[in-house]
Amino acid sequence: MLISFEGIDGCGKTTQIMLLKERLMREKLPVEVLREPGGTDLSEMIRSLLLNPDVQMNPVTELLLFSAARAELVAERVRPLLQQKVIVILDRFYDSTVAYQGFGRGSLPIKEIHHLNKIASQGIEPDATFFLDLDVDVALQRRMAQSGGHDRMELAGQPFYERVRDGFLYLAKTHARFIQLDATRKAEDLHQQIWQRVSGMIR
Ligand code: TYD
Repeated sequence: MLISFEGIDGCGKTTQIMLLKERLMREKLPVEVLREPGGTDLSEMIRSLLLNPDVQMNPVTELLLFSAARAELVAERVRPLLQQKVIVILDRFYDSTVAYQGFGRGSLPIKEIHHLNKIASQGIEPDATFFLDLDVDVALQRRMAQSGGHDRMELAGQPFYERVRDGFLYLAKTHARFIQLDATRKAEDLHQQIWQRVSGMIR
């Protein structure tokens, strides 16, 4: 089973992924969490290029690098784990490419991004996608409250993030596997909602 988590930066995905992982482990179910971009040596190298604020790149290059990191992660980790019946939780997957590179940057028409996503993911699709929806202002405030500098993607301004959020909202409307959640809810409430759906899928 493949479960992905999506949302704009600062939506609280990491907390929910950690809570879900712990819950599955308590049930003694095999689970692996992988992040995008990243998750293999090569994909982590691509990640450091993509997030380095000192690196400048064309939007199409950015799109292709995210896709390259994904192709490697799917072939090296995701596919073998799914074959071993491990529950794979992905911290972002190709929906982020539609939202960030498609809606946010306008790199290519959405239809072509869907096609590229299919190539990079080698036909693998999530069984469920939890979309933690959050107002861009609130997400920015949350991120400012966290320590540390901004990565290259986070340097994009508010209008960019508004378009990214619109991208996720569009995906949630058009894909049945999307489960849209209000990310302003308390972490424990969100976890309960997520667990209800996941436990229903396991049984
Ligand atoms: P990360 O630090 O993992 O952010 P987060 O914790 O919010 O997931 O950085 C990943 C960044 O890359 C994030 O800003 C989203 C962006 N991204 C894309 O633009 N396209 C993609 O296809 C993926 C997977 C991520």
